[in-house]
Amino acid sequence: MNNRAKTCIDPACWLPFTANRDFLQRPRLLQRAKGMYYQTPDGRPILDATAGLWCVNAGHCRSEIIDAITRQVQEMDFAPTFQMGHPLVFQLAQRLIGLMPASLQHVFFTNSGSESADTALKIARAYHHGRGEPQRTLFVGREKAYHGVGFGGLSVGGLPRNKAAFGPLLDSELLPHTLDQEHHRFTRGIPAWGDDPGIALDKIIQKYGSERIAAVIVEPVAGSAGVIVPPQNYLQQLRNACDKNGLLLIFDEVITGFGRLGTPFAAHYFAVTPDILTTAKGLTNAAVPMGAVFVSDNIYQSIMTNAQEGIELFHGYTYSGHPLACAAAMATLDIHEKEGLLTRGREIAPYFENALHSLRDLPLVTDIRNIGMMGAIEMQSLSEHIGARGMAALQKAFDRGLLIRNTADTIALSPPLIISEEEIDIAINIIRETLLSLA
Ligand SMILES: Cc1ncc(COP(=O)(O)O)c(C=O)c1O
Repeated sequence: MNNRAKTCIDPACWLPFTANRDFLQRPRLLQRAKGMYYQTPDGRPILDATAGLWCVNAGHCRSEIIDAITRQVQEMDFAPTFQMGHPLVFQLAQRLIGLMPASLQHVFFTNSGSESADTALKIARAYHHGRGEPQRTLFVGREKAYHGVGFGGLSVGGLPRNKAAFGPLLDSELLPHTLDQEHHRFTRGIPAWGDDPGIALDKIIQKYGSERIAAVIVEPVAGSAGVIVPPQNYLQQLRNACDKNGLLLIFDEVITGFGRLGTPFAAHYFAVTPDILTTAKGLTNAAVPMGAVFVSDNIYQSIMTNAQEGIELFHGYTYSGHPLACAAAMATLDIHEKEGLLTRGREIAPYFENALHSLRDLPLVTDIRNIGMMGAIEMQSLSEHIGARGMAALQKAFDRGLLIRNTADTIALSPPLIISEEEIDIAINIIRETLLSLA
Protein backbone atom coordinates (compact mmCIF):
# COMPACT_ATOMS: atom_id res chain seq x y z
CA MET A 1 0.00 0.00 0.00
CA ASN A 2 1.40 3.41 -0.84
CA ASN A 3 2.06 5.99 1.87
CA ARG A 4 -0.79 8.30 0.94
CA ALA A 5 -3.28 5.47 1.21
CA LYS A 6 -1.73 4.30 4.48
CA THR A 7 -1.77 7.67 6.20
CA CYS A 8 -5.44 8.37 5.48
CA ILE A 9 -6.58 5.43 7.61
CA ASP A 10 -7.52 6.51 11.09
CA PRO A 11 -10.51 6.31 13.43
CA ALA A 12 -12.10 9.47 11.98
CA CYS A 13 -13.95 7.08 9.72
CA TRP A 14 -16.14 4.56 11.57
CA LEU A 15 -16.75 1.70 9.16
CA PRO A 16 -20.12 -0.12 9.18
CA PHE A 17 -20.38 -3.81 10.10
CA THR A 18 -16.61 -3.81 10.56
CA ALA A 19 -14.22 -4.79 13.32
CA ASN A 20 -12.84 -1.25 13.29
CA ARG A 21 -10.10 -1.73 15.90
CA ASP A 22 -8.83 -4.70 13.95
CA PHE A 23 -9.20 -3.01 10.58
CA LEU A 24 -7.04 -0.07 11.65
CA GLN A 25 -4.24 -2.53 12.37
CA ARG A 26 -4.62 -4.34 9.05
CA PRO A 27 -6.59 -2.27 6.55
CA ARG A 28 -7.93 -3.60 3.26
CA LEU A 29 -8.41 -0.88 0.70
CA LEU A 30 -9.96 -0.81 -2.76
CA GLN A 31 -9.25 2.15 -4.97
CA ARG A 32 -10.32 1.37 -8.53
CA ALA A 33 -12.71 -0.96 -10.28
CA LYS A 34 -13.42 -2.14 -13.80
CA GLY A 35 -15.45 -5.10 -15.02
CA MET A 36 -14.83 -8.11 -12.80
CA TYR A 37 -11.92 -6.56 -10.92
CA TYR A 38 -11.11 -4.13 -8.15
CA GLN A 39 -7.63 -2.73 -7.70
CA THR A 40 -5.89 -1.90 -4.45
CA PRO A 41 -4.05 1.42 -3.97
CA ASP A 42 -0.79 -0.37 -4.76
CA GLY A 43 -2.20 -1.70 -8.02
CA ARG A 44 -3.00 -5.29 -7.05
CA PRO A 45 -5.99 -6.72 -8.98
CA ILE A 46 -8.72 -8.24 -6.82
CA LEU A 47 -11.26 -10.46 -8.57
CA ASP A 48 -14.70 -9.51 -7.30
CA ALA A 49 -16.57 -12.68 -6.34
CA THR A 50 -19.23 -10.77 -4.40
CA ALA A 51 -20.37 -8.08 -6.87
CA GLY A 52 -19.26 -5.55 -4.28
CA LEU A 53 -21.92 -6.35 -1.69
CA TRP A 54 -24.29 -8.42 -3.87
CA CYS A 55 -24.98 -5.34 -5.94
CA VAL A 56 -22.68 -4.67 -8.92
CA ASN A 57 -24.46 -7.25 -11.06
CA ALA A 58 -23.34 -5.89 -14.45
CA GLY A 59 -19.69 -5.47 -13.45
CA HIS A 60 -17.85 -2.34 -12.38
CA CYS A 61 -17.59 1.11 -13.92
CA ARG A 62 -19.83 0.46 -16.88
CA SER A 63 -19.33 3.37 -19.27
CA GLU A 64 -23.04 3.40 -20.19
CA ILE A 65 -23.99 4.06 -16.56
CA ILE A 66 -21.22 6.60 -16.02
CA ASP A 67 -22.32 8.50 -19.15
CA ALA A 68 -25.98 8.46 -18.11
CA ILE A 69 -25.18 9.81 -14.63
CA THR A 70 -22.88 12.46 -16.10
CA ARG A 71 -25.51 13.62 -18.61
CA GLN A 72 -28.17 13.72 -15.90
CA VAL A 73 -26.15 15.72 -13.39
CA GLN A 74 -25.51 18.32 -16.06
CA GLU A 75 -29.17 18.52 -17.00
CA MET A 76 -30.74 18.43 -13.54
CA ASP A 77 -28.89 17.50 -10.36
CA PHE A 78 -31.88 17.06 -8.09
CA ALA A 79 -35.62 17.45 -8.13
CA PRO A 80 -37.98 16.89 -5.24
CA THR A 81 -40.59 14.17 -5.57
CA PHE A 82 -42.79 15.51 -2.77
CA GLN A 83 -45.77 17.09 -4.57
CA MET A 84 -43.53 17.30 -7.66
CA GLY A 85 -42.16 14.88 -10.20
CA HIS A 86 -39.72 14.59 -13.07
CA PRO A 87 -40.16 12.61 -16.29
CA LEU A 88 -37.38 10.12 -15.62
CA VAL A 89 -38.87 8.78 -12.41
CA PHE A 90 -42.12 7.97 -14.23
CA GLN A 91 -40.27 6.40 -17.15
CA LEU A 92 -38.23 4.26 -14.79
CA ALA A 93 -41.33 3.18 -12.86
CA GLN A 94 -43.03 2.03 -16.07
CA ARG A 95 -39.99 0.13 -17.19
CA LEU A 96 -39.54 -1.61 -13.86
CA ILE A 97 -43.20 -2.56 -13.63
CA GLY A 98 -42.74 -4.23 -17.01
CA LEU A 99 -40.26 -6.65 -15.40
CA MET A 100 -42.53 -7.57 -12.51
CA PRO A 101 -45.16 -10.27 -12.10
CA ALA A 102 -48.43 -8.83 -13.45
CA SER A 103 -50.10 -7.97 -10.15
CA LEU A 104 -47.26 -5.72 -8.93
CA GLN A 105 -48.19 -2.53 -10.72
CA HIS A 106 -46.83 0.31 -8.60
CA VAL A 107 -43.40 1.26 -7.29
CA PHE A 108 -42.30 3.48 -4.40
CA PHE A 109 -38.67 4.61 -4.56
CA THR A 110 -36.24 4.56 -1.63
CA ASN A 111 -32.44 4.78 -1.34
CA SER A 112 -31.46 1.45 0.14
CA GLY A 113 -32.55 -2.03 1.05
CA SER A 114 -33.13 -0.99 4.66
CA GLU A 115 -35.41 1.82 3.59
CA SER A 116 -37.19 -0.56 1.25
CA ALA A 117 -37.87 -2.99 4.11
CA ASP A 118 -39.18 -0.25 6.39
CA THR A 119 -41.27 1.21 3.58
CA ALA A 120 -42.81 -2.19 2.83
CA LEU A 121 -43.72 -2.74 6.48
CA LYS A 122 -45.25 0.74 6.73
CA ILE A 123 -47.26 0.23 3.54
CA ALA A 124 -48.55 -3.07 4.94
CA ARG A 125 -49.73 -1.36 8.12
CA ALA A 126 -51.18 1.59 6.21
CA TYR A 127 -53.12 -0.80 3.98
CA HIS A 128 -54.75 -2.53 6.94
CA HIS A 129 -55.30 0.77 8.72
CA GLY A 130 -57.11 2.16 5.71
CA ARG A 131 -59.30 -0.92 5.47
CA GLY A 132 -60.44 -0.48 9.04
CA GLU A 133 -58.14 -3.08 10.61
CA PRO A 134 -55.64 -0.87 12.45
CA GLN A 135 -55.03 -3.60 15.01
CA ARG A 136 -53.07 -5.58 12.40
CA THR A 137 -49.68 -4.36 13.53
CA LEU A 138 -47.67 -7.52 14.23
CA PHE A 139 -45.11 -8.66 11.69
CA VAL A 140 -43.81 -12.15 11.10
CA GLY A 141 -40.22 -12.51 9.94
CA ARG A 142 -37.92 -15.52 9.92
CA GLU A 143 -34.90 -16.70 11.85
CA LYS A 144 -31.59 -15.89 10.14
CA ALA A 145 -33.25 -13.23 7.98
CA TYR A 146 -31.60 -9.93 7.16
CA HIS A 147 -33.80 -7.01 6.19
CA GLY A 148 -31.36 -4.19 6.79
CA VAL A 149 -30.72 -1.99 9.75
CA GLY A 150 -33.73 0.32 10.15
CA PHE A 151 -35.85 -0.37 13.22
CA GLY A 152 -38.51 -1.99 11.03
CA GLY A 153 -36.23 -4.31 9.11
CA LEU A 154 -34.30 -5.06 12.28
CA SER A 155 -37.48 -6.04 14.10
CA VAL A 156 -38.36 -8.69 11.52
CA GLY A 157 -34.75 -9.78 11.03
CA GLY A 158 -33.51 -13.00 12.52
CA LEU A 159 -29.80 -12.45 13.16
CA PRO A 160 -29.58 -12.09 16.96
CA ARG A 161 -26.30 -10.15 17.07
CA ASN A 162 -27.75 -7.46 14.81
CA LYS A 163 -30.56 -6.89 17.29
CA ALA A 164 -28.87 -7.39 20.63
CA ALA A 165 -27.89 -3.79 21.44
CA PHE A 166 -30.89 -2.00 19.99
CA GLY A 167 -34.12 -3.08 21.67
CA PRO A 168 -36.94 -2.67 22.23
CA LEU A 169 -38.03 -3.22 18.65
CA LEU A 170 -41.40 -3.57 16.90
CA ASP A 171 -43.66 -6.46 17.88
CA SER A 172 -42.72 -9.40 15.74
CA GLU A 173 -42.51 -13.17 15.67
CA LEU A 174 -40.13 -15.33 13.67
CA LEU A 175 -40.78 -18.40 11.58
CA PRO A 176 -38.11 -21.08 11.87
CA HIS A 177 -35.23 -20.82 9.41
CA THR A 178 -34.93 -23.51 6.74
CA LEU A 179 -31.29 -24.50 7.18
CA ASP A 180 -31.41 -28.24 7.80
CA GLN A 181 -27.86 -29.48 7.74
CA GLU A 182 -28.78 -32.88 8.96
CA HIS A 183 -30.76 -33.61 5.80
CA HIS A 184 -29.67 -31.00 3.25
CA ARG A 185 -25.90 -30.88 3.56
CA PHE A 186 -24.26 -30.39 0.13
CA THR A 187 -27.60 -30.09 -1.64
CA ARG A 188 -27.25 -28.66 -5.13
CA GLY A 189 -29.96 -26.02 -5.60
CA ILE A 190 -33.34 -26.44 -3.94
CA PRO A 191 -33.58 -29.03 -1.12
CA ALA A 192 -36.17 -31.66 -1.98
CA TRP A 193 -38.21 -31.38 1.19
CA GLY A 194 -38.71 -29.44 4.38
CA ASP A 195 -41.38 -28.36 6.84
CA ASP A 196 -44.47 -26.54 5.61
CA PRO A 197 -44.11 -22.98 6.98
CA GLY A 198 -47.90 -22.86 7.29
CA ILE A 199 -47.62 -25.06 10.38
CA ALA A 200 -45.30 -22.63 12.18
CA LEU A 201 -47.42 -19.70 11.00
CA ASP A 202 -50.52 -21.38 12.42
CA LYS A 203 -48.84 -21.52 15.84
CA ILE A 204 -48.18 -17.77 15.71
CA ILE A 205 -51.76 -17.19 14.60
CA GLN A 206 -53.06 -19.30 17.47
CA LYS A 207 -51.05 -17.18 19.90
CA TYR A 208 -52.13 -13.75 18.61
CA GLY A 209 -55.10 -14.28 16.28
CA SER A 210 -54.72 -13.67 12.55
CA GLU A 211 -56.56 -10.38 12.94
CA ARG A 212 -53.51 -8.93 14.74
CA ILE A 213 -50.98 -9.76 12.03
CA ALA A 214 -50.12 -7.33 9.23
CA ALA A 215 -47.68 -9.26 7.08
CA VAL A 216 -45.11 -11.99 6.72
CA ILE A 217 -41.74 -10.96 5.30
CA VAL A 218 -39.06 -13.31 3.98
CA GLU A 219 -36.06 -13.22 1.72
CA PRO A 220 -36.97 -15.84 -0.91
CA VAL A 221 -33.38 -17.09 -0.48
CA ALA A 222 -31.71 -15.88 2.72
CA GLY A 223 -28.55 -14.15 1.53
CA SER A 224 -26.66 -12.52 4.36
CA ALA A 225 -27.03 -15.52 6.66
CA GLY A 226 -25.10 -17.59 4.13
CA VAL A 227 -27.29 -18.49 1.14
CA ILE A 228 -30.07 -20.55 2.67
CA VAL A 229 -32.22 -21.96 -0.12
CA PRO A 230 -35.85 -22.72 0.78
CA PRO A 231 -37.00 -26.30 0.32
CA GLN A 232 -39.25 -27.29 -2.56
CA ASN A 233 -42.75 -25.71 -2.37
CA TYR A 234 -41.86 -23.67 0.75
CA LEU A 235 -42.69 -20.27 -0.74
CA GLN A 236 -45.90 -21.53 -2.33
CA GLN A 237 -46.94 -23.02 1.01
CA LEU A 238 -46.19 -19.71 2.69
CA ARG A 239 -48.24 -17.89 0.05
CA ASN A 240 -51.15 -20.27 0.63
CA ALA A 241 -50.96 -19.84 4.41
CA CYS A 242 -50.93 -16.03 4.09
CA ASP A 243 -53.92 -16.10 1.73
CA LYS A 244 -55.85 -18.39 4.04
CA ASN A 245 -55.39 -15.94 6.93
CA GLY A 246 -55.62 -12.58 5.16
CA LEU A 247 -51.94 -11.74 5.73
CA LEU A 248 -49.84 -9.84 3.25
CA LEU A 249 -46.71 -11.55 1.97
CA ILE A 250 -43.58 -9.47 1.43
CA PHE A 251 -40.56 -10.75 -0.48
CA ASP A 252 -37.31 -8.97 0.26
CA GLU A 253 -35.52 -9.28 -3.07
CA VAL A 254 -32.73 -6.85 -2.29
CA ILE A 255 -30.25 -9.61 -3.13
CA THR A 256 -32.31 -12.02 -5.24
CA GLY A 257 -33.66 -9.28 -7.54
CA PHE A 258 -32.26 -8.27 -10.90
CA GLY A 259 -31.05 -11.59 -12.24
CA ARG A 260 -29.19 -13.09 -9.28
CA LEU A 261 -31.03 -16.41 -9.58
CA GLY A 262 -31.06 -16.48 -13.38
CA THR A 263 -34.56 -15.04 -13.58
CA PRO A 264 -35.43 -11.34 -13.28
CA PHE A 265 -36.68 -11.86 -9.70
CA ALA A 266 -36.98 -14.77 -7.29
CA ALA A 267 -40.75 -14.38 -7.65
CA HIS A 268 -40.28 -15.67 -11.22
CA TYR A 269 -37.85 -18.39 -10.20
CA PHE A 270 -40.23 -19.84 -7.62
CA ALA A 271 -43.41 -18.85 -9.51
CA VAL A 272 -44.80 -17.24 -6.35
CA THR A 273 -45.96 -13.64 -6.33
CA PRO A 274 -45.88 -11.63 -3.11
CA ASP A 275 -48.11 -8.63 -2.35
CA ILE A 276 -45.09 -6.39 -1.83
CA LEU A 277 -41.58 -6.90 -3.20
CA THR A 278 -38.56 -4.91 -2.04
CA THR A 279 -35.40 -4.23 -4.03
CA ALA A 280 -32.23 -2.08 -4.02
CA LYS A 281 -28.60 -2.99 -4.87
CA GLY A 282 -28.65 -4.28 -8.49
CA LEU A 283 -31.30 -1.75 -9.46
CA THR A 284 -28.67 0.86 -10.31
CA ASN A 285 -25.76 -1.56 -10.48
CA ALA A 286 -24.85 0.17 -7.19
CA ALA A 287 -23.49 3.21 -9.01
CA VAL A 288 -25.95 5.50 -7.20
CA PRO A 289 -27.85 4.30 -4.12
CA MET A 290 -31.48 3.46 -4.86
CA GLY A 291 -34.15 1.09 -3.64
CA ALA A 292 -37.66 0.37 -4.87
CA VAL A 293 -40.72 -1.22 -3.31
CA PHE A 294 -43.22 -2.86 -5.65
CA VAL A 295 -46.82 -3.04 -4.54
CA SER A 296 -49.84 -4.92 -5.82
CA ASP A 297 -52.59 -2.98 -7.52
CA ASN A 298 -54.96 -4.17 -4.81
CA ILE A 299 -52.90 -2.57 -2.02
CA TYR A 300 -52.29 0.63 -3.97
CA GLN A 301 -55.96 1.08 -4.92
CA SER A 302 -57.06 0.32 -1.39
CA ILE A 303 -54.77 2.98 0.09
CA MET A 304 -55.76 5.49 -2.59
CA THR A 305 -59.47 4.85 -2.04
CA ASN A 306 -59.48 4.78 1.73
CA ALA A 307 -57.25 7.79 2.34
CA GLN A 308 -58.71 11.14 3.22
CA GLU A 309 -58.32 13.94 0.74
CA GLY A 310 -54.71 14.99 0.14
CA ILE A 311 -51.59 12.92 0.77
CA GLU A 312 -52.46 9.23 0.90
CA LEU A 313 -49.25 7.86 2.47
CA PHE A 314 -47.30 10.05 4.86
CA HIS A 315 -43.98 8.52 3.96
CA GLY A 316 -41.05 9.22 1.64
CA TYR A 317 -37.41 10.24 1.46
CA THR A 318 -35.84 13.45 0.21
CA TYR A 319 -33.98 11.35 -2.33
CA SER A 320 -36.85 9.05 -3.39
CA GLY A 321 -36.53 8.89 -7.18
CA HIS A 322 -33.32 10.94 -7.24
CA PRO A 323 -32.61 11.91 -10.87
CA LEU A 324 -29.05 10.53 -10.81
CA ALA A 325 -30.27 7.22 -9.40
CA CYS A 326 -33.02 7.11 -12.04
CA ALA A 327 -30.46 7.73 -14.78
CA ALA A 328 -28.20 5.00 -13.38
CA ALA A 329 -31.14 2.59 -13.16
CA MET A 330 -32.27 3.28 -16.73
CA ALA A 331 -28.75 2.69 -18.05
CA THR A 332 -28.49 -0.48 -15.94
CA LEU A 333 -31.73 -1.78 -17.43
CA ASP A 334 -30.36 -1.02 -20.92
CA ILE A 335 -27.31 -3.16 -20.14
CA HIS A 336 -29.48 -5.93 -18.72
CA GLU A 337 -31.55 -5.94 -21.90
CA LYS A 338 -28.63 -5.74 -24.29
CA GLU A 339 -26.60 -8.44 -22.57
CA GLY A 340 -29.45 -10.62 -21.32
CA LEU A 341 -28.13 -10.32 -17.77
CA LEU A 342 -31.45 -10.92 -16.06
CA THR A 343 -31.36 -14.48 -17.34
CA ARG A 344 -27.63 -15.05 -17.93
CA GLY A 345 -27.37 -16.58 -14.47
CA ARG A 346 -29.40 -19.52 -15.72
CA GLU A 347 -26.75 -20.34 -18.33
CA ILE A 348 -23.70 -19.96 -16.12
CA ALA A 349 -25.18 -21.35 -12.88
CA PRO A 350 -24.50 -25.05 -13.67
CA TYR A 351 -20.79 -24.28 -14.18
CA PHE A 352 -20.74 -22.21 -10.99
CA GLU A 353 -22.50 -25.02 -9.11
CA ASN A 354 -20.02 -27.66 -10.25
CA ALA A 355 -17.08 -25.43 -9.43
CA LEU A 356 -18.42 -24.72 -5.93
CA HIS A 357 -19.15 -28.35 -5.18
CA SER A 358 -15.64 -29.36 -6.31
CA LEU A 359 -14.57 -27.95 -2.90
CA ARG A 360 -16.70 -30.44 -1.04
CA ASP A 361 -13.95 -32.80 0.08
CA LEU A 362 -11.57 -30.15 1.36
CA PRO A 363 -10.77 -30.07 5.05
CA LEU A 364 -12.98 -27.75 7.14
CA VAL A 365 -15.82 -27.69 4.60
CA THR A 366 -19.04 -28.77 6.33
CA ASP A 367 -21.63 -27.69 3.75
CA ILE A 368 -21.97 -26.10 0.30
CA ARG A 369 -25.18 -24.44 -0.86
CA ASN A 370 -26.06 -22.73 -4.13
CA ILE A 371 -28.85 -21.39 -6.28
CA GLY A 372 -28.47 -19.32 -9.44
CA MET A 373 -25.40 -17.15 -9.00
CA MET A 374 -25.38 -17.31 -5.20
CA GLY A 375 -23.19 -19.78 -3.40
CA ALA A 376 -21.94 -20.51 0.10
CA ILE A 377 -19.20 -22.66 1.54
CA GLU A 378 -19.57 -23.32 5.21
CA MET A 379 -16.51 -24.08 7.28
CA GLN A 380 -16.29 -25.79 10.63
CA SER A 381 -16.13 -23.10 13.31
CA LEU A 382 -13.49 -22.94 15.97
CA SER A 383 -15.58 -23.69 19.03
CA GLU A 384 -13.97 -20.96 21.10
CA HIS A 385 -14.05 -18.33 18.38
CA ILE A 386 -16.98 -18.41 15.97
CA GLY A 387 -16.29 -16.28 12.91
CA ALA A 388 -12.50 -16.37 13.23
CA ARG A 389 -12.08 -18.79 10.32
CA GLY A 390 -14.43 -16.76 8.16
CA MET A 391 -12.44 -13.59 8.81
CA ALA A 392 -9.17 -15.40 8.19
CA ALA A 393 -10.57 -16.71 4.90
CA LEU A 394 -11.56 -13.19 3.86
CA GLN A 395 -8.07 -11.89 4.62
CA LYS A 396 -6.24 -14.77 2.99
CA ALA A 397 -8.40 -14.67 -0.14
CA PHE A 398 -7.86 -10.90 -0.34
CA ASP A 399 -4.12 -11.40 -0.03
CA ARG A 400 -4.38 -13.85 -2.96
CA GLY A 401 -6.41 -11.40 -5.08
CA LEU A 402 -10.03 -12.39 -4.44
CA LEU A 403 -12.89 -10.56 -2.76
CA ILE A 404 -15.23 -12.91 -0.92
CA ARG A 405 -17.78 -12.24 1.80
CA ASN A 406 -17.97 -14.04 5.10
CA THR A 407 -20.85 -14.46 7.50
CA ALA A 408 -19.37 -15.99 10.60
CA ASP A 409 -17.56 -19.02 9.15
CA THR A 410 -19.47 -19.21 5.89
CA ILE A 411 -17.93 -17.88 2.69
CA ALA A 412 -20.59 -16.34 0.45
CA LEU A 413 -20.17 -15.77 -3.27
CA SER A 414 -22.35 -13.67 -5.57
CA PRO A 415 -20.18 -12.62 -8.50
CA PRO A 416 -21.21 -10.07 -11.10
CA LEU A 417 -23.47 -11.77 -13.65
CA ILE A 418 -20.91 -11.09 -16.38
CA ILE A 419 -18.43 -13.54 -14.86
CA SER A 420 -16.76 -15.99 -17.28
CA GLU A 421 -16.04 -19.67 -16.68
CA GLU A 422 -12.32 -18.84 -16.48
CA GLU A 423 -12.98 -16.26 -13.78
CA ILE A 424 -15.10 -18.77 -11.84
CA ASP A 425 -12.13 -21.15 -12.00
CA ILE A 426 -9.76 -18.45 -10.72
CA ALA A 427 -12.09 -17.67 -7.82
CA ILE A 428 -12.59 -21.31 -6.87
CA ASN A 429 -8.86 -22.04 -7.07
CA ILE A 430 -8.09 -19.17 -4.72
CA ILE A 431 -10.77 -20.40 -2.32
CA ARG A 432 -9.29 -23.92 -2.51
CA GLU A 433 -5.83 -22.56 -1.63
CA THR A 434 -7.37 -20.45 1.11
CA LEU A 435 -9.20 -23.40 2.67
CA LEU A 436 -6.08 -25.56 2.51
CA SER A 437 -4.03 -22.85 4.18
CA LEU A 438 -6.56 -22.62 7.01
CA ALA A 439 -6.73 -26.35 7.69
C1 LIG B 1 -32.20 -9.07 1.88
C2 LIG B 1 -31.67 -7.74 2.26
N1 LIG B 1 -32.52 -6.78 2.66
C3 LIG B 1 -32.11 -5.57 3.01
C4 LIG B 1 -30.78 -5.25 2.98
C5 LIG B 1 -30.31 -3.90 3.41
O1 LIG B 1 -29.88 -3.17 2.33
P1 LIG B 1 -29.03 -1.83 2.56
O2 LIG B 1 -27.72 -2.23 3.11
O3 LIG B 1 -28.98 -1.24 1.18
O4 LIG B 1 -29.81 -0.98 3.50
C6 LIG B 1 -29.84 -6.20 2.57
C7 LIG B 1 -28.42 -5.89 2.50
O5 LIG B 1 -27.58 -6.73 2.28
C8 LIG B 1 -30.31 -7.48 2.21
O6 LIG B 1 -29.46 -8.44 1.85
